[in-house]
Amino acid sequence: MASARIVLNPGAVIGAINPRIFGSFIEHLGRAVYGGIYEPGHPDADDKGFRRDVVALVKELGVSAIRYPGGNFVSGFRWEDSVGPRDQRPRRLDLAWHSTETNEIGLHEFQDWLDLVGSELMLAVNLGTRGTAEALDLLEYANLGRGSTRSDERAANGRPDPFDVRIWCLGNEMDGPWQLGHRSAEDYGKLAARTARAMKAFDPDLELVACGSSGSGMPTFLEWERTVLRESYDAVDYISCHAYYENDGDLGSFLASGVDMDGFIRQVAGVADAVQLERGSDKRIDISFDEWNIWYNSRFENVDKIAGVDNWPVAPRLLEDVYSVTDAVVFGSLLITLLSHADRVASASLAQLVNVIAPIMTEPGGPAWRQTTFFPFAETSRHAGPIALDVSLTSDTYETERYGEVDAVAAVATHDEASGSTAVFVVNRRVDGPTTLELDVSALPGTLRVDAVSLYDDDLEATNTATAPGRVGLRPNVDVSSDGNHRIRIELPAVSWTRVLLVPGH
Ligand code: AHR
Repeated sequence: MASARIVLNPGAVIGAINPRIFGSFIEHLGRAVYGGIYEPGHPDADDKGFRRDVVALVKELGVSAIRYPGGNFVSGFRWEDSVGPRDQRPRRLDLAWHSTETNEIGLHEFQDWLDLVGSELMLAVNLGTRGTAEALDLLEYANLGRGSTRSDERAANGRPDPFDVRIWCLGNEMDGPWQLGHRSAEDYGKLAARTARAMKAFDPDLELVACGSSGSGMPTFLEWERTVLRESYDAVDYISCHAYYENDGDLGSFLASGVDMDGFIRQVAGVADAVQLERGSDKRIDISFDEWNIWYNSRFENVDKIAGVDNWPVAPRLLEDVYSVTDAVVFGSLLITLLSHADRVASASLAQLVNVIAPIMTEPGGPAWRQTTFFPFAETSRHAGPIALDVSLTSDTYETERYGEVDAVAAVATHDEASGSTAVFVVNRRVDGPTTLELDVSALPGTLRVDAVSLYDDDLEATNTATAPGRVGLRPNVDVSSDGNHRIRIELPAVSWTRVLLVPGH
């Protein structure tokens, strides 16, 4: 039997977990908005057309901040189109996704929806086809109390109080040749710096995210970050990271995707620190990991892309990936990696939330259901304590094609001093059998009640669908034993994700 061991010590603090690490992302893309969160006429829609079943699932998922309205979409977006009387809003071509944007849902409606789900708005400005002036207009519209044309417009449009958006993305993936307005690192860095300085002249406490690379595989990776930060260091607060993983058939490497994400974070943090040193600055730039997920992007690129000069559908089915058990285990391991960097990752956005590479799916006039990936996210956001702990992991290893020898187990713990409870999140990447995990709990005071759930299945390809929405779910893990001497053992099934909760008391 393979084995792994972790030590739970409330003193082994990685850092405080910023609740924004449990953020997500909704883009005007496919059926995320229209037919996703919004479907007037659906039997479960409220008087504004928002699906109540989706609201309930988003709340259950427990997402903190939601990045909006893109993504690639934002680089062609004119925010003014999306406010004011709805019957006068223009229909526009969305060149990023080859679709028509009706603007039926805009800033006000989206904020109404956020009020329902209880999440914070993380707003992206268009630095692709637009620039500093338009970003400032939007900022004034969104955040000024009253007394200017823009703020008065907002009040007249139904929101007397400002939206008071605290965290802003300065464009999206500007290193990507597919991005409208794509430019060099130097050009983008200067534009981001100019825009950030102007935005901070309005409110120095805004939190601003500069675009990092759109993936660690980009040819300009790290050089991009270095140049952008050299240009904008004093004016911005975070640098973004984006990472998507897919199973290309090399299962062992796919299961170890967290190793890649870990290296990605370390490399970007290293560059940010190097620029800090160069500048002799007291300020540290943290990471906004504002797009992460499993995404079968190869399918989109090769099969689903929309084309044709006369073909601009409204809310087409795009990027509707169906996630397997294996995908959910890898997904859970990515969350573990993010939490393991709680001292550096200040914000993260699961990309995305509804219908588009999403944990929540819907059918028009029909049900909404949880994909496999829903479960690790919901459990982690619900049970993670405020402090992330290093677990001094020792584990059996296995060989991967992409990353060499990797640990069969990945884990992180969190602690809540107020309640004394500790949560452990762990994956077993082994395909050929279970792993016995030993938890050394000698540093945790008192007697502990153990509660554990796992996600696994004999069929690694099992999914949840509209007709079988409950096929995959969490199962209580009862393979737990204690030697009465501060050691708890739990069996982790092959290819599984597990949450263990240790609560003081019997
Ligand atoms: O999340 C889907 C797309 O992935 C986003 O629009 C873009 O930023 C990224 O390439």
